[in-house]
Amino acid sequence: MPSLVCLFLFSLFVCIAQAQVPANQTFKFVNEGEFGPYIVEYDGDYRMLDLFASPHQLAFYNTTPNAFTLALRMGLRRSESLFRWVWEANRGNPVGENATLTFGQDGNLVLADADGRVAWQTNTANKGVVGLRLLSTGNMVLHNSKGDFVWESFDYPTDTLLVGQSLKAGKVSKLVSRASDTENKDGAYSLVMEPKGLVLYYQSKNTPKPLLYYRFTERNFNVKRPIDQVILQCEPTTDEGYAYEITVRYLLNNSQVGGILPVRPKYNSTLTFLRLGIDGNIRLYTYSDKVDWGAWETTFTLFDSDNYWWEGECQLPEKCRGFGLCEDSQCVACPSSKGLLGWSKTCEPQKLPSCDAKSFHYYKLDGGFIKVLDSL
Ligand SMILES: *[C@@H]1O[C@H](CO)[C@@H](O)[C@H](O)[C@H]1NC(C)=O
Ligand SMILES: *[C@@H]1O[C@H](CO)[C@@H](O)[C@H](O)[C@H]1NC(C)=O
Ligand SMILES: *[C@@H]1O[C@H](CO)[C@@H](O)[C@H](O)[C@H]1NC(C)=O
Ligand SMILES: *[C@@H]1O[C@H](CO)[C@@H](O)[C@H](O)[C@H]1NC(C)=O
Repeated sequence: MPSLVCLFLFSLFVCIAQAQVPANQTFKFVNEGEFGPYIVEYDGDYRMLDLFASPHQLAFYNTTPNAFTLALRMGLRRSESLFRWVWEANRGNPVGENATLTFGQDGNLVLADADGRVAWQTNTANKGVVGLRLLSTGNMVLHNSKGDFVWESFDYPTDTLLVGQSLKAGKVSKLVSRASDTENKDGAYSLVMEPKGLVLYYQSKNTPKPLLYYRFTERNFNVKRPIDQVILQCEPTTDEGYAYEITVRYLLNNSQVGGILPVRPKYNSTLTFLRLGIDGNIRLYTYSDKVDWGAWETTFTLFDSDNYWWEGECQLPEKCRGFGLCEDSQCVACPSSKGLLGWSKTCEPQKLPSCDAKSFHYYKLDGGFIKVLDSL
């Protein structure tokens, strides 16, 4: 008899301690079937999954055969505009056909290949998760019975920050660009939150250490205290909502210590995201869910030939490829030992036949503002 009571008490204890996802809330999606018919970012193929909160939806997409990314799209079919990928789970670690996304009773969300290899997971098994929700902000959350978020996709940005999403010290404190339209792996650029503000870095094969190519604090804002969070926000500036202000706020201990980039679209721009692009530029894209076509607008571009307040395109490390000369946001010349030649996409430094000191020399260009190594 005492052992039965004990068993009863024990199972009661286990029940309380191990809150579970109700069986009717669990799911298993398989990456199979027809591709969707609409145009998506990076010209990918996609399959939408049955998890939708307007205008966001979960999907598998690929840009090279059989290498799928689990991602959230922003955009509605009705607007006939591009679907853009605003969050992704498994950059650099794609899954194949028949991969599965499973949300089990233990509260873990797992992306696995058809053979069972786990590509990505939320690591939330037995942590009190009772449900999964996709919020209209684009945040996908796993919550406990009190409604607190045990895990949220907003904590794991790659190259994109949605409104309300932030970089955080001690968590993900930088964005990393995508390598190219076709390759979803880390690219050359990063937007890093440092104690004094946001900084852009470029790392190529020839640069063992990342090179700083832009610092937001120098000219635009001077932070006196270290920051621990950078958040993208958007608020109406009048009660009537005639204009909205999009800002990137610098926070310390959740209170504002500064901010950059106010831009002011004259319509509801809550559906905005900041993207560190494949080219190393920073852009804000705003989606209007009220129109039938042309729903996207680029509401800010950091390196822009038309923007006097910010920077020209010559600040972009690879604007003129590895070697070209850039002036007023244009590629104007290719330096050679015969002087400055016209720039083209093939403008590259000449290859050295060997590292022998005799195999290269310096040459001077007219104007004398640049010196390069040459193999002649
Ligand atoms: C899921 O199951 C619970 C009981 O476990 C029930 O209360 C709830 O209504 C069910 N929800 C749906 C959508 O069927
Ligand atoms: C995916 O699974 C289905 C059903 O089991 C199978 O017919 C199909 O060949 C699989 N596809 C691939 C690419 O393995
Ligand atoms: C942040 O807030 C916590 C508690 O509110 C406090 O202990 C800590 O000193 C604060 N940190 C800074 C840098 O102000
Ligand atoms: C602005 O748009 C967001 C997203 O569509 C919506 O939730 C919000 O209610 C809108 N605000 C106003 C004032 O219309």
